[in-house]
Formats: sequence, C-alpha cells, structure tokens
Amino acid sequence: MQVRVASVDGLAHGQALKFEFERDGEACEGFVLRSGDALFAYHNRCPHLGIDLDMGEGRFYSALTDRIFCSSHGALFVPSSGYCDAGPCAGEALERFGLELDGVDAVITIPDVG
Ligand code: FES
Repeated sequence: MQVRVASVDGLAHGQALKFEFERDGEACEGFVLRSGDALFAYHNRCPHLGIDLDMGEGRFYSALTDRIFCSSHGALFVPSSGYCDAGPCAGEALERFGLELDGVDAVITIPDVG
C-alpha cells in the first residue's frame, strides 16, 4: 500500500507529520520525521507495549537526546534507523517504511504485514 503525505518539504529538523493507514482491517498511524536533510517514515507504534509513541500530541523528537522518543516510558530511537538504544525496548526498533519524494510530497510504502 502507498500513502501520500502532502507538503513534507516544509518540515523543520525534528518536526513530524502524521498519516493514517489500514492494516488487517485496523486503523494505524505513521509519521514522517525530518532529521537534518533527510526524511524518515515510521509506524507510530512503540515496540515496548505497541501503543502510540506520542500519546496523540504529535511530538516525536527530543533535541536534547537527538532521538525519537516514546512519551509513555521514555524509550529512545535513533532517527535515521528507528533502532532503540535506551529504554524498556532497547535493542528493538520502530517499523520503518519506504519513503520517496514526489515534488513536495512524500509517498510512503507500507507492507501489508508488520
Ligand atoms: S510504550 Fe514506549 S517505552 Fe513503554
């Protein structure tokens, strides 16, 4: 499945845009994050308990640690890979999606199974 996320070109370092998708009949959420010059797309699902990283607030990035973070229990994830290097799910990773730019938009490729 592919999902288009509009106007990602305007994201500043550390800013994110959320998007929705469906998998196995369930509503899911992802986000596109800018880190430096690069954009990354991840499933908004912490490997610890399988819940949203941002608790609905839309904040994913901590400048203090230069990490994506989970608002619930503080797991930290490397922005470029999704690898968790601190917290209760250390050694696991966020599910990363393919991202291609199409003008100012991003086209996210989401596999049918996680
Ligand atoms: S749910 Fe993310 S660290 Fe616990």
